Amino acid sequence: MAGRPAGLFGAPELTVVVGEYAHSTVVRALGLLGLGRDRVRRVPADDQGRMRADCLPGDVTGPVVICAQAGEVNTGAFDPFPSILESARRHQAWMHVDGAFGLWALTDPSRAHLTAALADADSWATDGHKWLNVPYDCGIALVRRPEDLRRSFTAAAGYLPPDTGFEAANLTPQSSQRARQVEVWAVLRTLGRQGVTDLITRTCRHAQTMAVCLGQAGLEVLNDVVFNQVLVRAATDEQTRALITAVQRDGGRAGAGRPCGSTARPCGSASPAGPRPPRTSGTAQTPSSPLLSSRPPETDQTRPVICRYVTMLRWTHTRQRGGRVVRRG
Ligand SMILES: Cc1ncc(COP(=O)(O)O)c(C=O)c1O
Repeated sequence: MAGRPAGLFGAPELTVVVGEYAHSTVVRALGLLGLGRDRVRRVPADDQGRMRADCLPGDVTGPVVICAQAGEVNTGAFDPFPSILESARRHQAWMHVDGAFGLWALTDPSRAHLTAALADADSWATDGHKWLNVPYDCGIALVRRPEDLRRSFTAAAGYLPPDTGFEAANLTPQSSQRARQVEVWAVLRTLGRQGVTDLITRTCRHAQTMAVCLGQAGLEVLNDVVFNQVLVRAATDEQTRALITAVQRDGGRAGAGRPCGSTARPCGSASPAGPRPPRTSGTAQTPSSPLLSSRPPETDQTRPVICRYVTMLRWTHTRQRGGRVVRRG
């Protein structure tokens, strides 16, 4: 539609379909585009936050955009892409995937069950500034057919170079812009294909370990840890809120006990003394001790805490290498 000279004036009505747990920025983007924050068709999600493909609307007419999600921000869950794609093709819909962090699962063959049909969508969004640790802001939009970008964004003027080859100003909304892609290229070139895969698999392994550690520490793990997100809650709302405050104040380290792997006892192995004691030195202090010593009751409806483990791992990843990215593989 963006390529139409008249824009949305006189255009057929567009239906936008999103999952119940579409990221808030997707909804904001719809508002910015003039498509309305609330005029979307929301598809119910399952208990992991995955869009339920069996609930996709069958009654839509006219142009349709389906926004699926690779990596739900709370659980790391992946939408069922094969079924969504099948529905999108049936309705000649455009299938977009918000893969802000989840798109990187494509680099890990052991996660092929999560990413089946993901590569067959029409467009994808992801971030360089999450796993790759490049500076904010480095959002990446990918489209199946490059000419769609050119049709939407070309801005010709006599004083500008002719549009031959790659010219970022003709492929993105901005005209003047700094070369963010240099940083992404440098990290990808440094890590290499295998290095990126190792980064993803290692981080996801740490998430598994962290889920075990948090469980041992008395928190309830609420999600299936399929990727890098671990969703936990404490025994009561009050304790959960105190934990959120402590984690935010501490930059992701509070409440996690000793850093995993820093002691002789491997994280995940049963402690002879029961749950791992809270850390008593450093910045993780008062709010963490009561949290880590009690188990939540079955009936508790505590609001979940998002444990943004990826942030912590980015820190670890950089620290382990003396603050510099090193060539791997
Ligand atoms: C699934 C998902 N979509 C979109 C975003 C927004 O990304 P950004 O903050 O880089 O715009 C995030 C950020 O965490 C996310 O997790």
